[in-house]
Amino acid sequence: LTAGGFTSGLNLYSSVFLEELDVTRSDFPADFTFGVATSAGQTEGSAREGGRGPSTWDHRVDILPDAIINSDKFSTAIDSYRLYKEDIKIIKELGVNSYRFSISWSRILPKGSLSGGINQEGVDHYNSLIDELIRNGIKPFVTILHSDFPQALEEKYGGYLNHSFVNDFKDYSEICFKSFGDRVKNWFTVNEPTVSAVYGYELGIAPPGKCSLKEGVCVFGSPENCLVPAGPCNFGGDSSTEPYIVAHNQILAHATAAKLYKEKYQAQQKGEIGIVLASKYYVPLSESHEDKIAAERLFDFNLGWFMEPFVYGDYPKSMKESVKERLPSFSAQEKSLIKGCLDFVGINYYTSTYARHKTPPPFEQLRYSLDVSAEETGMKDGVFLGMDREGHWPEGLQKLMEYIKEKYQNPKIYISENGLFTIRNDELSLADQLKDPERISFIVRHLYRLDKAIKNGVNVKGYFYWSLFDDFEWGMGFLHRYGLYYIDFDHNNRRIPKQSAEWFKAFLQSDHVTR
Ligand code: NOJ
Repeated sequence: LTAGGFTSGLNLYSSVFLEELDVTRSDFPADFTFGVATSAGQTEGSAREGGRGPSTWDHRVDILPDAIINSDKFSTAIDSYRLYKEDIKIIKELGVNSYRFSISWSRILPKGSLSGGINQEGVDHYNSLIDELIRNGIKPFVTILHSDFPQALEEKYGGYLNHSFVNDFKDYSEICFKSFGDRVKNWFTVNEPTVSAVYGYELGIAPPGKCSLKEGVCVFGSPENCLVPAGPCNFGGDSSTEPYIVAHNQILAHATAAKLYKEKYQAQQKGEIGIVLASKYYVPLSESHEDKIAAERLFDFNLGWFMEPFVYGDYPKSMKESVKERLPSFSAQEKSLIKGCLDFVGINYYTSTYARHKTPPPFEQLRYSLDVSAEETGMKDGVFLGMDREGHWPEGLQKLMEYIKEKYQNPKIYISENGLFTIRNDELSLADQLKDPERISFIVRHLYRLDKAIKNGVNVKGYFYWSLFDDFEWGMGFLHRYGLYYIDFDHNNRRIPKQSAEWFKAFLQSDHVTR
């Protein structure tokens, strides 16, 4: 094993490395962005303070406390609204050059729209946060909308389903450009639009919790021990059409805000604007033609759903063919608005999946039925692909990057998220909770593959680990710990570095030779 730069303690972890690796900071270009990521709703807390209006997640936790583990802690989260200066010290100490965080829409516009008034206290907060980052030499990468949608807009007109959302998002984005754009040079408009569309309107596990699925679908866990079931599907909705409408409006919202930025702010502020999309790499389970088509279809229904409009001006052919009139269409004017509107794309990569052809019924109209997981194929232990037990497959990151390069005209890419969770276990001693060799292995193996992708000509400019801290995980509450830093929920949310934080710091200092 050689893993240059991991000067201290690396041998401790060597048993977890699955392949011979050699990756150092200097394998990446000197101007490569290394960062950590969080989002407002998952970290800030102070949900009812500082003039903030409620988000749809606050509302969901209020009405369905039992659907979320430790939901009582949601309104405090990990207290980053108050502790942000200390957090920035930690980021600086870690040695990354960038920080991806999000702005809470309802902290800026408590009623969601401009007509409801701007909350100056919210604007001041983000100004201080951004100033503090800049003072410490850390570049802000800002997500404008990361899941915490204003509840007021949900109540006023049905949120994402209504085209009015596009205009309100534009106004909100403009406040961000005007207030922070002199210092923020990298904007992500929307984070993972599939999550709002699919979790919110198909699986019913994110606000507004709509779904018309048959009962009994398990979203996380096994059918016998299901930790997160779909639903409860008692808020109405039509999963055969609504996810598509929600995605459609998010595409238009991104494009409208991006156009505004490009026409009015970009020349002066000299920044860039993109979106964050989640994708797995889809591997046909067999050599059969049908499975290969199934893999392509999965790409289309996840990544292509957004990339195809942004790069080519319309939805993927396979979506149009199978969703038919349930898929909204773009007018000629909208096509020219959306085509070519990305300066870069953020990709959240966590894992990959097999694709096996399935005949559409029993619920043919639903997108979900297309996805065939490793479990379903009976290849749980990943013998087939060399995936590890949790289904992590770093090679999938490289392949996904190469796929995007070929299919979408080699765009500029940031890995806006990549991370590993462990399940919270309060029975373990603190010392044991800080030992996370599996997280170190996860990062090393992904960076190794990313380096290979870059050497193969993929235009990747940065990597953000998700997440800086253990935090609130949508739907799962505080069950999943993703952090480089452990959060001690019982002692004022104190932040304690895990071994992975020490490792990441050493990696970032390793061999700073410019290529
Ligand atoms: C995607 C989301 O952007 C983030 O909010 C979430 O916590 C992570 N992935 C992990 O699931």
